[in-house]
Order: sequence, then C-alpha cells, then structure tokens
Amino acid sequence: MKKFIVIGNPIKHSLSPTVHEYWFKKYKEEATYEKKFLEEKDLRKIIKDIQRNQITGANITVPFKQKIIPFLDELSLVAKETLSVNTIYRNNNKVIGDNTDVNGFQNSLSEHFSKNSIKSTLLIGAGGVSPSIIYALKNLNVGQIFISNRTEEKAQLLKERFGPLLSIVPWNDLANKNLYVDLVINATSLGLQKEETINLNFSSFDKKTIFYDVIYNPHQTSFLKKAESLGYQTINGMMMFLYQAQLAYEIWNKQKPEIDTKLLNLVRQN
Ligand code: ATR
Repeated sequence: MKKFIVIGNPIKHSLSPTVHEYWFKKYKEEATYEKKFLEEKDLRKIIKDIQRNQITGANITVPFKQKIIPFLDELSLVAKETLSVNTIYRNNNKVIGDNTDVNGFQNSLSEHFSKNSIKSTLLIGAGGVSPSIIYALKNLNVGQIFISNRTEEKAQLLKERFGPLLSIVPWNDLANKNLYVDLVINATSLGLQKEETINLNFSSFDKKTIFYDVIYNPHQTSFLKKAESLGYQTINGMMMFLYQAQLAYEIWNKQKPEIDTKLLNLVRQN
C-alpha cells in the first residue's frame, strides 16, 4: 500500500488529505494520505522514511518548504529556481524535491487570462510563496512585477534573484500609489484573521484589474471582500491549491486526476 503525508506546522486546516483520498477512491489506488504536524528537528527522519520506502511521497507546507531542501538528494529545476519544495518523491533511490505550486498558480490564471495578456502585476508579500508566484509570472511572460513587502529587505532579495522584472514599491507607499496593473496578488498571511486588511488604495485601480488572494481558507479574505465590494473580479487560492495537488498526484501515481464537480463541491464545503 502506498503511503503519503503532508507535513507542516500548523497542519490542522490542510485540505490535502480530502483531495488525495477522493482521487485514490476514484482511481482505485490503494493508498493512504495523512497530515503530520512536525517540528523542524523531525525533517531528517521523514526524508529517511522516504529513502527506505516507508513513505511513498510527501507534500510540504508552511514553514518547511525551504527548510527541507538540505535533506534532499536532488531538486527539480523549478524547485532549484524558487528554492521552494512542496512535493517529494523517490526516484532511483534518490529523494527528489519538486515544486508544483508554480504550476498550480499558473494554471489557476489560465482560466482568467488568455496567453500573454498579463502585462503587469502588483505582488504584495515576499514570504514563502512569493518566489513560486514570480517564477510562474515569468513563465507567463509578464512584463513587470511591482512588489511590496512590510520588510523591504525581503523584497530586495527577490529582486536580486529575479532581476529587473521586479520593481519595489515601499510598503508605506501602497496606500497612496496609483498603479496600472492587470492583476493584484495578495501573498501575505494578512487576511487569515478577519479584521486585518492591507493598506492599499483599492479604488485607484482600473475596473478591469483582477484581485487574487493565495489564501483559500477563509474562501473570501478581507482583501477579496474589499475588492469585490468595489466591483473588481476576484480569485481565491482554491484553484491554485487544487492544481498543485493534481500535479503532485500525477508525479506520484503516473496518472493525471480530474478536478471534477464533486471534488469542487467537497472542498468548498470544508
Ligand atoms: P515567511 O516570511 O516566514 O515565509 P510566510 O507566511 O510565507 O512566512 O509570509 C508571510 C508574508 O506575510 C510576508 O510577506 C510577511 O511580511 P514580512 O516579510 O514583513 O514578515 C507578510 N505579513 C505577515 N503578517 C503581516 C502584517 N501584520 N503586516 C504586513 N505583512 C505581514
């Protein structure tokens, strides 16, 4: 029997088991998928278990996507470029780290934008998920990414890694800045708590600007609520989450599972 896990801290709210178990049943795969709450000191042991084939594969979530890297034998190209690993598998006795968040984010946008139609974006946040978003936006040939982060040095580090595509907007300028962008992305953890909002001049954007929040739980963060109340189209992180899970499943089980209506209903209820 194949055995999969998702590791993180916190991990209670992860919907990954729901999604993978749904697909195991649908495709008659004999497998289990469990959540594991871990401390950083347990990372080495988990990788050993994958090495010994006691665990078939793992998803990695906050705050371990970068911290897991030193324990792995090899990284995929995307994992190397983003320094972020969310999917682990074994190949020829080596433990490989991959990143399916990039693909997840990219696919989630294809439902809203045609090819090459995103000219510029504003990315708010420079934490764990931001390198994957920037990498995906690069793949989509986005011409300009404005980035703003409370701790500006972290945005600066991303600029050093990804080059002139990025322009830094000081955090305190967000409130009075007028930017012409096709897409505004919230990649901060602000909004997990209901009262928090980003000090952004929401009404200054073009009516066609789309607002995206990588958070999927709650389904509508205060960031998206504010944008929607002003008439903007909004996207939450649910499809990104499902697409990253879909690619992870395909890597592990050599079959691309379907994101069908029943699955969508299942995750939307949770
Ligand atoms: P990490 O930075 O450890 O990878 P993360 O959850 O991936 O953690 O990222 C958190 C993001 O939300 C960061 O961009 C963080 O800004 P800082 O880099 O300044 O910490 C942002 N964030 C979290 N709480 C915030 C707050 N109260 N105000 C503004 N930004 C906040």
